[in-house]
Amino acid sequence: MEVIELADAAAVAERVAARLLNARRQQPLRPLGLATGRTMVPVYAAMARLLPLLPAPEQAQVRRGWLSFNLDEYVGLDPADPRSFHAAMAAQLTGPLGLDPAGVRLPDGQAPDPQAEAGRYTAAVAAAGGIGLQVLGLGLNGHVGFNEPPCGPEAPCRCVELSDGTRAQNADGFGGVGAAVPTRAITLGLVEILAAERILLVVTGAAKASVLRRVLEAPPTPDIPATWLQRHRAVSVIADGAALGRV
Ligand code: GLP
Repeated sequence: MEVIELADAAAVAERVAARLLNARRQQPLRPLGLATGRTMVPVYAAMARLLPLLPAPEQAQVRRGWLSFNLDEYVGLDPADPRSFHAAMAAQLTGPLGLDPAGVRLPDGQAPDPQAEAGRYTAAVAAAGGIGLQVLGLGLNGHVGFNEPPCGPEAPCRCVELSDGTRAQNADGFGGVGAAVPTRAITLGLVEILAAERILLVVTGAAKASVLRRVLEAPPTPDIPATWLQRHRAVSVIADGAALGRV
């Protein structure tokens, strides 16, 4: 895996934002794969800053026909619920970039049958030709999307149970109370993630240093789902010095 080390989270966000905007210009027909979480907040903010700096025809090219698929969504939250990933994407990306909301897709967390919804969602990704550039954050337990350990490379899009650790990690939007975070989510699996043409694993902050080291150095293992990325031919890890353990 190629490792790109940048000084800080702001520099990481700028670089990832530029890659996403370039992907829209160079491969306008390939859907993007997007993530939520704290790591991605400055990335989308940087996209909103950089987009207006492009010549008008290129801005139009970025917006026209936009199609992206997010990795995951909590089960049981209304898309309008501010704690949902739908709402996060609307607030951080769709609104600030002036995108057509119909092009910013996520699993439907309110579907009556979440497992059937997972099947519908993966079929929609496939019908769109599969993901071109997939952006990933990294969970403290090595999860990508909501593929919690143990998880093998054959795991498809599905409804999953979230670990207590992950719920605690994501408690910010839920009044800081891990127990208030939904217990289930629909997530793209390692199958869909590894089928992307290119992958960017985005990691910032010293808290991720020990898991990132294992992702880079451990042999692929279900205990650290992100280690399966080592098997992909075009993965770039974009990280700040803190996440790479520099003191
Ligand atoms: C969450 C999400 C992932 C996200 C990761 C890291 O649980 N499901 O898509 O990338 O964990 O989150 P953060 O960026 O907030 O550290």
